[in-house]
Amino acid sequence: MSVRHRVQVSGSVSASVECADDQRLLDAFLRNNVYLPNSCNQGTCGTCRVKVTCGSVSAPTVDDDVLTPELQAEGYVLACQSTPDSDVTIEAPTESSAPRHRLRDLTGTVSEIRALARDTVAVFVDVTEPLDFSAGQYMEITVPGAGLSRPYSMANPPSTDSTLEFHVRRVAGGTATDRWIFDSLSSGNRVDLRGPWGDFVHDLETTGPMILLAGGTGLAPLKSIALEALSLDPEREVHLYHGVRYADDLYESDFWRSIGVAHPGFRYQPCVSRETGVGRPGYVGDAVADDFATLRGAVAYVCGPPAMVDGAIKACRRRRMSARHIHREKYTPATELASVEG
Ligand code: FES
Repeated sequence: MSVRHRVQVSGSVSASVECADDQRLLDAFLRNNVYLPNSCNQGTCGTCRVKVTCGSVSAPTVDDDVLTPELQAEGYVLACQSTPDSDVTIEAPTESSAPRHRLRDLTGTVSEIRALARDTVAVFVDVTEPLDFSAGQYMEITVPGAGLSRPYSMANPPSTDSTLEFHVRRVAGGTATDRWIFDSLSSGNRVDLRGPWGDFVHDLETTGPMILLAGGTGLAPLKSIALEALSLDPEREVHLYHGVRYADDLYESDFWRSIGVAHPGFRYQPCVSRETGVGRPGYVGDAVADDFATLRGAVAYVCGPPAMVDGAIKACRRRRMSARHIHREKYTPATELASVEG
């Protein structure tokens, strides 16, 4: 039986929560309305670091590039990986602009699986009541019988609707995709979800141009962000670049063109890096650098594989976008999972 400890949070906001000795600190905080910056929930980004000032916690070894040895020596730990061994006091940046939605465990029912592109589907899951989340956040979906879960971003914007939309690309040999979602998952199946997680979005209500750069199914959170931004301001200047390797990997192009008809400030740019004839040839970062002499005053949201994200960020910086206005979410295939899958 698990033992419960008291975790006292100090900082600009003070709070006290109970946390079981087999429960991660971040999980306990988010279930109790203590909102910390968090992104990967995998121990790979360092976003959720907190300082233990009293008591002790257990945590797996952390890579030095996630938390420097100096910070570890000062008592910093990753809240998404640490469990309490005793009553604990921590210092946390509770003044964060992280989305404020309570973490929940849900069971949903698959209502539709829709082919989007080669090896890519949209999975629609009905939950019993609308989920409170921010555009850009994700859910962890439990893979039945595998003892693991996988993160998938909501592609739908927050709304009163209780259907969640996820984009999934098949990973050859992948436990979640090849051996479950693409193999046996079908309409009517029940799925377990936990979330929402992540703090990709910070300032949707700013007014400058919004540049969205997606690689593959990194389009999912950017779809949610674009639709939410356009519902807040239908005239908003939004530029969506969707990068894929081959034309067969593009999806929802007609949908995005229809958004451009309805919203005069919206531009859609499909970019194909390994063949010509459909979309713009090359990478999304190069397309952005070609299209803008300067990106001062603009905000960017970038989501996709690490190399694509790094290239897109460099392009935005070359065009003088402020680093604090560039928000990123890296994901990698499940075989080397580091952050959000898509
Ligand atoms: S390391 Fe904890 S959220 Fe990324």
